[in-house]
Amino acid sequence: MEPTLVEKKDQDLAFKVDVFKGLRSIPKSISSKYFYDDEGSLIFQEITQMKEYYPTRLEMEVFEQRKYDIVRCMASSEVDVVELGAGDGHKTKVLLEQMNEQDIKVNFYPIDISEKALDELLKNVSSGEKLKVHPVVGEYMSGLAKVCEMSKKPKFVLFLGSNIGNFGPGERVSFLNSLQKNLNVGDMILIGFDLKKDVRKLVQAYDDPSGVTAKFNLNLLKRINRELGGHFDPDSFYHHAFYNPLKGAMESCLLSSKEQDVVVDEFGTSFHFEPYEAIHLEHSYKFTLNEIEDMAQKCGFRVNQHFQGTSGGYVNSLWEVRKGVTSLH
Ligand code: AVI
Repeated sequence: MEPTLVEKKDQDLAFKVDVFKGLRSIPKSISSKYFYDDEGSLIFQEITQMKEYYPTRLEMEVFEQRKYDIVRCMASSEVDVVELGAGDGHKTKVLLEQMNEQDIKVNFYPIDISEKALDELLKNVSSGEKLKVHPVVGEYMSGLAKVCEMSKKPKFVLFLGSNIGNFGPGERVSFLNSLQKNLNVGDMILIGFDLKKDVRKLVQAYDDPSGVTAKFNLNLLKRINRELGGHFDPDSFYHHAFYNPLKGAMESCLLSSKEQDVVVDEFGTSFHFEPYEAIHLEHSYKFTLNEIEDMAQKCGFRVNQHFQGTSGGYVNSLWEVRKGVTSLH
């Protein structure tokens, strides 16, 4: 099936502008949303298979152990399942098969920035009698708006993998507010949250000894080289990941191992790095159940149920759009 394409040109321009601003700012910083070009999405798949990277496994455990109860909460016999940042779909498949089992007709709209990731998904999830798959290439919110234009059926939105943890506090409130505005009363959203846990376990997951996470971060410099004519030498930068207990987040930076000036052709200028200067790349926030409930309340949702597996440490929280609520801004 041909995917629906959303504003590729706008995305390229946003990348260019944000890289320029980010390399000029003090401290330097570039959003982790730019990790996910085709190459980065493949490296992320590799991360999810590492033994140190527990979130994927824990979420899969929630689905395997609680799929019946999750699907039982769906109020309609025909729904649009919209997945924001779908990846390869192997976890979602567990829920889609359960919906089929419980006789729910599904129009599945996986939205992802990477066309390659959606190609992978189509290998795992294919249309059948009660399931129609409609891939959408694009960013979360513009993709969702597009789906809402195409169909008025009740929505069951999936935002899995603790992707919400990569937003800052302000960003996640405005993201959830716009999600709420795009949806109708009674529509549901299932969000994956990584819970706060032992710092040693966190650091192992985000600074793995085999260097896959380092490769993931360094790919952003390679992406700047590929797309913007950058002259970064990835070997002169290294990955540094740490837990910030005051923010409740894992953070990651690339550090320049020496003083250097890096030219980026597209900008016709160079960027200066002091020895050990950082480019901040990622926040991965961790949550408590109380924080999750406050967030839902603040953004116009009602928590229907929290689903956890027997290992704990991760929750898939099911929320419903509340009646008569205009979300706070
Ligand atoms: C996609 N996201 C939820 C991952 C995370 O855990 O924050 C990205 C990641 N970064 C390093 N490892 C995985």
